[in-house]
Amino acid sequence: MFVGRTAEMQSLAALFEVGSGSAFVIGPPGIGKTSLCEHGAERARRGGAFVAWGRAWEFGGAPPFFPWLRVFTTLSENVTAHRALGDVATRLRDGSEDGDARGRLLLFDAARAALVQAASVGTIVLILDDVHAADPGSLQLARYLQHSSRSTSPQRWARAAAHAGMGPPPNADGSR
Ligand SMILES: Nc1ncnc2c1ncn2[C@@H]1O[C@H](COP(=O)(O)OP(=O)(O)O)[C@@H](O)[C@H]1O
Ligand SMILES: [Mg+2]
Repeated sequence: MFVGRTAEMQSLAALFEVGSGSAFVIGPPGIGKTSLCEHGAERARRGGAFVAWGRAWEFGGAPPFFPWLRVFTTLSENVTAHRALGDVATRLRDGSEDGDARGRLLLFDAARAALVQAASVGTIVLILDDVHAADPGSLQLARYLQHSSRSTSPQRWARAAAHAGMGPPPNADGSR
């Protein structure tokens, strides 16, 4: 049974209801970040949002963009704009743009465009768990989407990132 965390839940619920913006859930392992996000996700689903969840793999060997691959695959299988979303998922899986700055930026922008298209028919909530273990490319994509959503309309997609550690999530280059 989920207990307490009233203020945190209210913050997440408000974010998911507005459907625009992002939140970071930060704290040491076992404090309840994943549970809070699960609880928030359940509430968002009841409110009609579609929730897509990605989790970084903490034990090594994950391909680049692993958490985002799960997000875009889930979205492409479940929401409209599936062609654009599926195309992004394929490009993330291929990794062909990895290491090529120009190709990577075009991929990020395709991801942004696909999300905007998908979010035009309903609120999408993206949750990235265990982002302390995410690869630099995944963090870059998160930043790109976070920044570009400020100037993109419609903005009906919200994000939450759960991050084990005390302090804000690192930038893609590991700096804070
Ligand atoms: N608010 C809560 N009420 C009840 N149990 C909780 C709550 N938050 C976390 N837990 C329990 O504590 C344990 C660790 O929570 P978890 O969300 O996995 O932590 P984290 O993601 O921060 O490592 C889990 O067994 C979870 O069910
Ligand atoms: Mg967790």
